[in-house]
Amino acid sequence: MTRSDLHADAFVFFGATGDLAYKKIFPALHALLRDGELDMPIIGIAKAGWTLDQLRARARASLEHAGTVDEAAYGRLCRQLHYIDGDYADDRTYGQLRAALRDARRPLHYLAIPPSLFPTVVQGLAAAGCARDARVVVEKPFGRDLASARALNRVLHGAFDESAIFRIDHYLGKEAVQNLLYFRFANTFLEPVWNRDYVQSVQITMAEDFGVQGRGAFYEEAGAIRDVVQNHLLQVTALLAMDAPVGHDAASLQAEKLRLFRGMRPLRPQDVVRGQFDGYRNEPGVAKDSNVETFAALRLHIDTWRWAGVPFYIRTGKCLPLTATEILVDLKTPPLAIFDTIEPPQSNTFRFRLSPEVVISASARVKQPGAAMRGQSVELVARRDMADQQTPYERLLGDAMRGDATLFTSDASVEAAWAVVDPVLDLPEPVAPYRAGSWGPAAAADLPDGNEGWHDPVAEPPADGASG
Ligand code: BG6
Repeated sequence: MTRSDLHADAFVFFGATGDLAYKKIFPALHALLRDGELDMPIIGIAKAGWTLDQLRARARASLEHAGTVDEAAYGRLCRQLHYIDGDYADDRTYGQLRAALRDARRPLHYLAIPPSLFPTVVQGLAAAGCARDARVVVEKPFGRDLASARALNRVLHGAFDESAIFRIDHYLGKEAVQNLLYFRFANTFLEPVWNRDYVQSVQITMAEDFGVQGRGAFYEEAGAIRDVVQNHLLQVTALLAMDAPVGHDAASLQAEKLRLFRGMRPLRPQDVVRGQFDGYRNEPGVAKDSNVETFAALRLHIDTWRWAGVPFYIRTGKCLPLTATEILVDLKTPPLAIFDTIEPPQSNTFRFRLSPEVVISASARVKQPGAAMRGQSVELVARRDMADQQTPYERLLGDAMRGDATLFTSDASVEAAWAVVDPVLDLPEPVAPYRAGSWGPAAAADLPDGNEGWHDPVAEPPADGASG
């Protein structure tokens, strides 16, 4: 039996008193406990001068904030929870951890801390013997450019085998993203058209109708490209565009994704429009002359046999008109317009709405009833789902405990994704201002070639039926 077949037998999280623990980790632990999947010690570590009771109270506040408290699950959490208050640079912290782990053989260490602290914690774990046969989960951002991502990988590899490292991108834990992967490879009708012969262009929009929500200082260090393009949106692009994995295991999927990332042409400044919403510079923690982008639109090329010449337009922004993430795959028009004479000619599209609802649909042309041979578009909805699902963190933490790396990012993929965006990080050209509530700066509208324009997601997801 290999290590990846073995379930973790202790859960350790660094940054236990922090924001991520409050917002995501406690609710995920609560759900796993409720489902009977977390029968092990849960050890929180932080340097906050707290007691175990304070951490329990924090967990309760977190669950109330998330909306549900299952008293039995919360009771188990309280019984299984330990707290170590200590400095990450102090050997004694790891001595206490060793003691708290007792006879656990395969702990899972979750580093919910800033990447600048990774080297200290990883070395501390290794020196105390806590890294042996253990797994480690690391949060995004994984570095801030290609060079720092490589350095982080070296640090992690100093103590953990690559098979024991789980780099989280919570987007990969979303039901809709898994659905995308499933839909692509479970349907034969897609494959013949899924290439440069039939696809005109692809658009991916991740719009948010809110600003930086008090995270100004964090955002100043990131910007939209680092925050969501390098990870979430390039990951989605990879799943949308990759070839079918050869085999059922995580390694096969990772291998195909990596091939796709390597086919992505590094972005050039002229492929990118960066914007900043009016008012961003007044946010706490933001510089008065900040040149950080809160909006980015880019044109990406994937130089593979399948995709050469097909533009992938990716757009994201804060303070846009609504919150939705949508992919639109636009097929080429038929070679001749025999009936319809409308301009621009209408093509077929595939739409994957990833949030807030999960919708997969295709548009087709049908004849309008009546004497004339006039057409209309109809939306054929394959899946429309608003039901509550497992949260990404619940799914991903459960997977990491089981040693299933399918939904995590490998060292090579994360570096390949950084290589794509590296040339357009921190561009000196001033960001273009845009009005909050608009679709970003005017310059972004011209990015799509020809008269295509952007397809803006709408608040109501497509339902079955005619759409004009
Ligand atoms: C995070 C980014 O990774 O993803 C945020 O840091 C962004 O800026 C968030 O808002 C979006 O994720 P979700 O799952 O809330 O759509």
